[in-house]
Amino acid sequence: MSPPESKAEPEAEPEAGTLRVSDLHVSYGRSVQALHGVSLTVPQGRIVAVLGSNGAGKSTLLRAVSGTLALHRGTVERGTVHFDGVRLSGDAARSVAAGVVQVPEGRRIFGALSVEDNLRAGFLGSARRSRAELRAARERVFAQFPVLAERRRQAAGLMSGGEQQMLAMGRALMAAPRLLLLDEPSLGLAPLMVRRISEIIREINAQGTSILLVEQNAAMALELSDRASVLDVGQVRLEGASADLAAADEVRRLYLGETYETGCGAPDADGDAAYATAASAPSVTGPGLTELGRWNG
Ligand SMILES: Nc1ncnc2c1ncn2[C@@H]1O[C@H](COP(=O)(O)OP(=O)(O)OP(=O)(O)O)[C@@H](O)[C@H]1O
Ligand SMILES: [Mg+2]
Repeated sequence: MSPPESKAEPEAEPEAGTLRVSDLHVSYGRSVQALHGVSLTVPQGRIVAVLGSNGAGKSTLLRAVSGTLALHRGTVERGTVHFDGVRLSGDAARSVAAGVVQVPEGRRIFGALSVEDNLRAGFLGSARRSRAELRAARERVFAQFPVLAERRRQAAGLMSGGEQQMLAMGRALMAAPRLLLLDEPSLGLAPLMVRRISEIIREINAQGTSILLVEQNAAMALELSDRASVLDVGQVRLEGASADLAAADEVRRLYLGETYETGCGAPDADGDAAYATAASAPSVTGPGLTELGRWNG
C-alpha cells in the first residue's frame, strides 16, 4: 500500500507575514465605485509601491487593508484581505493587533497635543500596555527620529511638514508594526526632505517591517520599492518589478518627469516646498494608460 500522498500546504509557509489583497471591490455609498477588483501581494520584508494619479483609488486600497474604510463610509463589496494567513475583516483595531498599521494621507497628527502625547496615542493602539514598554517604544522612535526627541514637549502642530511626517511615522512605529501602510509620505515636502523620508523608509524596512507605499511621486517610490502596481480608476493597469517599471517607456513618459530631478515646487510657510510630480499632471489619465495595459513585464 502506498503511503498517503503527502500534500504539503504550499500556501502556508509563503503566507507568513505576507499581505495578500484579492479581487477587492470597494464603493462609497451607492454611486462611487472606487476599486474594481484590485489584487496585490506584499511579501514579508519587502517594499511594494502603488502609484497612480488623483482619485485612482490608492487611499481607498490602504483604508481597506487597515480596516478604516468604515470611517469614510466606504464598503468592501467583494474580495478579501489576508495578512499572515489571517483574513482581515475590516476592523481597524484587529488590523493593528495583527501588526498592520497605517500612516494616513495628510499625516493626521493631533496638532494641539505634544509630540510625546501623539506618540502615546500610537502606542495605545497596540497590544502592549506597560509603562516600561511605552518608554522603550518611545526611545526607539526617538533614536530613529532625533528631531522628535528635541521637540518632545512641543505642540505637534507647530512643526514643519517634514517633521510632522516623521511624527506620523513615529506614531505608527509605536505600535511595532509588521506591515506599515504609508499614504503619500512625500506629499508637500521639499526634495531634501523627500530624500530624508526615503532614507527613513529604507531604514524601517531594513529593521524588518514590510511596507506598502502609496505615492504620486513615482520616481521616489520606484527607487525604494521591489515591486510596484499602477492603479488607474480603481484598477491595476500595470504590475511588475520596480526596476522594469522605471525603465518602461510609458511609465517614464507618464509618471517620471524632470520634476523629480529639479524639485520645482514653491516653498510654503514652513520652508517645505510643494512637490510637483509628473504623476499629478492631468495627462496621466486618458488613452495613455490603455496603451500601458500591453506592458506585462
Ligand atoms: N469618503 C469618500 N466618499 C465618497 N467618495 C470617496 C471618498 N473617498 C474617496 N472617494 C472617491 O473614491 C475614488 C478614489 O479615491 P481615493 O482617495 O482612494 O484616491 P487616491 O488615489 O488616494 O487619490 P489622491 O491621489 O488624490 O489621494 C475617487 O473617485 C474619490 O472621489
Ligand atoms: Mg489618496
